Amino acid sequence: MYSLEDSKRTHHCNELCGQDVGVEVILMGFVDKRRDHGGVIFIDLRDREGITQVVFNPEKNSEVHKQAHDLRSEFVLCVKGIVELRPDNMMNKKIKTGEIEVAVNELKIFNTAKTPPFQIDDSEDVAENIRLEYRFIDLKRKKLQTNIIKRSNITFSIREHLNSLGFIDIETPFLTQSTPEGARDYLVPSRINHGCFYALPQSPQLFKQLLMISGFEKYYQVVKCFRDEDLRADRQPEFTQVDIEMSFVNEKDVMELSEGLIKKIFKVSLNKELSLPFKSLKYEEAIDRFGLDKPDMRFSLELKDITEIVKDSDFKVFTSAIKKGGIVKAINVENGTDFSRKDIDDLTKFVSIYGAKGLAWIRVKEEEWQSPISKFFSDEEKEKLKEKLNIKPGNLLFFVADTIKVTNEALGNLRNELAKKLNLIDEKEFNFVWVTDFPMFEYDDAEKKLSALHHPFTMPHNVDDLEKNPLNITSKAYDLILNGSEIGGGSIRIHRSDIQRKVFSVLGMTKEEYEKEFGFLLSALDYGAPPHGGLAFGLDRLLMIILNQKSIRDVIAFPKTQKASCLLTKAPSKVDASKLIELGIKNIS
Ligand code: AMO
Ligand code: AMP
Repeated sequence: MYSLEDSKRTHHCNELCGQDVGVEVILMGFVDKRRDHGGVIFIDLRDREGITQVVFNPEKNSEVHKQAHDLRSEFVLCVKGIVELRPDNMMNKKIKTGEIEVAVNELKIFNTAKTPPFQIDDSEDVAENIRLEYRFIDLKRKKLQTNIIKRSNITFSIREHLNSLGFIDIETPFLTQSTPEGARDYLVPSRINHGCFYALPQSPQLFKQLLMISGFEKYYQVVKCFRDEDLRADRQPEFTQVDIEMSFVNEKDVMELSEGLIKKIFKVSLNKELSLPFKSLKYEEAIDRFGLDKPDMRFSLELKDITEIVKDSDFKVFTSAIKKGGIVKAINVENGTDFSRKDIDDLTKFVSIYGAKGLAWIRVKEEEWQSPISKFFSDEEKEKLKEKLNIKPGNLLFFVADTIKVTNEALGNLRNELAKKLNLIDEKEFNFVWVTDFPMFEYDDAEKKLSALHHPFTMPHNVDDLEKNPLNITSKAYDLILNGSEIGGGSIRIHRSDIQRKVFSVLGMTKEEYEKEFGFLLSALDYGAPPHGGLAFGLDRLLMIILNQKSIRDVIAFPKTQKASCLLTKAPSKVDASKLIELGIKNIS
């Protein structure tokens, strides 16, 4: 027997136009809006593709019109009817189907819907915790639907590009051993092996290296990674990497491959032609000029080191920091006349987040310097500062004196903050830069030992100096920065077990420790490991920038909050004692 319910739709809701007038169609979707115009009921029927107006006219079909009285927002419908041209005064040029409407002569209500907790309308400002609790409704909104669909298109183009270049998509385990990338691991207890834990991978790093040893040559994966770290606007505890590894390559090869992929993504998503190659800066220069290893190069405001000029001055704040091995750097805000004392106080608070103990300043009026600190400098020192910082009337100078790390971090972040305040950023620009030649190690003050700046599997430049002078050696690592955000990073890897062992021992691991944790890698390196290298893009971060979103959560279907919880499913949650006993985490008492 015929039933509308079992029929298939003939068109989607963004398809019909003037040429279809007279055609009988079947549409399915949600009630977006309902209007009752003197007896005639108009419904905007919405599906994934768009909206079509469907009309219930009591004079044409009183039975169906009666049924339509019950329709409310988000009811799920199937309608059958005839496409008609709208009267001239009711044409809507703003939507694709605005010329026509469908005069309904059969209606099936698949399901009713409760009134949604918020309007499904992009313009309405809804608290994020409510949106996340009802994510299935939030995801109906145009903005999120567009983001998620574009995400799918971009991921598809990434796969297409890499497949066409001979890359093979290989899955790697989630229940695994720790893969150090600088965060804490998420641990999963083993029921079968009490007291033992899997770690969820921070990245597939070691598996992709093993795949090179197995001879796959070109690997990629669009893969979830898990990191238990403090969350920020551009971080999630589980996020997606486009992970890539290649054999018989050097830094240039990996960087060229990455640039080609990024070019393709920008063409597909924004129809934008990027010009290649991207700029490149050594780490040392990035820190020197911008204070950070992810410089935003859309504006200048560069940092200048003035340690040499002020080291013998009378300003104790500067000289004592220098005596302790620190430095003094400055930023010159060209047009600083609008900054009030309160603004400067706020910026002083801002730099304190990065450990700066203060923010000295000089306001330059014509020939005179207004500042609590200018009295400490001799005429000669002032002259040198004037030259080094290119000082002119109207300028406002900021200074930080501290350790090298604190000074650079505080002023580097202040630089970004000032650019926002001063509107120096062209939001339409996409500014790419590679940062290369990272130090291999850094000194971890808290742990009182060296740690790997990238990861310990990165090939050092000067292997002979590994043990003699570890803090002075750089590595074959590279990060890709877009508008001041690190969107990807990678390196050429160590493919010899003797070098890998040396790196572990410089990191303070005993032979027992590294054999226990990384014995499988060291063993594999001895079975014919080819030279290899790769990189991983942070897909969510990249999408955030391409889709011009302020939060990483707006490009992820089911994201977590800043506190790493899912408000929809209420994860993480407490579990029954019986489960903990089964897992060997709790004793039967
Ligand atoms: P790395 O740790 O630099 O390298 O990670 C690669 C990229 O992943 C993104 N990313 C994140 N995105 C969202 N939330 C997070 N918590 C998060 N953490 C990192 C960043 C980053 O550039 N195995 C190496 C890659 C390699 O050497 O090939 C790795 O994981 O955009
Ligand atoms: P004080 O002598 O402590 O009153 O500081 C004088 C000025 O120097 C104030 O504007 C402080 O914010 C600034 N100041 C203090 N410590 C530092 C520092 N480590 N680096 C830069 N400026 C500082």
